[in-house]
Amino acid sequence: VSTENQDVLRAYEWLTKLYHHLLRHTKEGKEGYQYLIDRGFTDNIIDTFQLGFSPSSREFIVQFLEKKGFHPQTMVKAGLLSMNDQQQISDRFRGRVIFPIRNHLGKSIAFGGRSINNQEPKYLNSPESELFHKGKLLYNFDLARSNIRKKEEAVLFEGYVDVISAYKAGVTNGVATLGTSITEAQAKLLRRYVDTVVICYDADKAGIQASYKAAKILKNAGCTVKVANMPDGTDPDEFIQQYGGERFKTEVIDLSDTYMSFLMRYLKRDYNLNLEGDRIQYVESVLDEVALIERPVEREHYLKELANEFELSMDTLSQEIQARRQKIG
Ligand code: CTP
Ligand code: MN
Ligand code: MN
Ligand code: MN
Ligand code: MN
Repeated sequence: VSTENQDVLRAYEWLTKLYHHLLRHTKEGKEGYQYLIDRGFTDNIIDTFQLGFSPSSREFIVQFLEKKGFHPQTMVKAGLLSMNDQQQISDRFRGRVIFPIRNHLGKSIAFGGRSINNQEPKYLNSPESELFHKGKLLYNFDLARSNIRKKEEAVLFEGYVDVISAYKAGVTNGVATLGTSITEAQAKLLRRYVDTVVICYDADKAGIQASYKAAKILKNAGCTVKVANMPDGTDPDEFIQQYGGERFKTEVIDLSDTYMSFLMRYLKRDYNLNLEGDRIQYVESVLDEVALIERPVEREHYLKELANEFELSMDTLSQEIQARRQKIG
């Protein structure tokens, strides 16, 4: 680590502590604290995840960092402070609740700042830097790692709040990809620790689309993939607020779909199975997926399901699979 990056790490450490202190113990942080309490966070959870608040003053954080001896230019370059068109330096996150993003060693290397008054963007994140590569890091991996090992399963969420709500509900093996779908690097990282990954993205259009992508990437990385099935339109945090943590565990996580059941559910969305043409197209698209499965036993299992559901013979389906596998090579 270069001296400059060491400085950046120290600045993140100071700011994480300061933001957290302001949230917990000062009137400047009161609105951030109240926001979290209203969303069901507890003091204990706020402390565990070192959540904080950045006061609305333009100067406060700038002066704090200067007093600690950090060069404003270095801080701007690292994205801790921002500079506007008039070369004015200010706190990038002012007025926002702070979610520190920790690396695998538990050290803050970036922040996510959530607006508490509907200001856009909803989340403002630190820019990519030498220390923070969004596509290589999994949020909460440091805290989740030992639980992932113990439970022999990891749960993959979209966002900070989902991870934290689930953690509070006892699902302590959750990590998040912070919005976008999982990258190959993140999938490989997970695979080093665990075989089974439960994808628990938001049950909205974007989330379901991202689940499909993530399922493929995780499968390619060698994982056993499951996909949680939540009521349309909800995200994990909303589910937990509405139905409680126990139901989240027993109905969403424990009953998550297998990879192929999810694919079938996903592909079905594009077809009207009352129409003969659609039925045929749907079966063909499922066959395309089944042909990609390496284990013969697994292929047969899904073919039987298809054969039953659509009253087709196993002979026909097997031929279709063979033709497809020959093409793949
Ligand atoms: N995200 C982001 N920038 C945005 C919106 C989202 O970086 N403008 C990332 C955040 O990491 C967020 C995740 O994508 O946690 C999922 O987005 P979304 O589902 O919109 O937010 P929630 O996690 O549900 O956040 P909240 O419950 O606070 O609304
Ligand atoms: Mn504390
Ligand atoms: Mn979402
Ligand atoms: Mn969400
Ligand atoms: Mn949410």
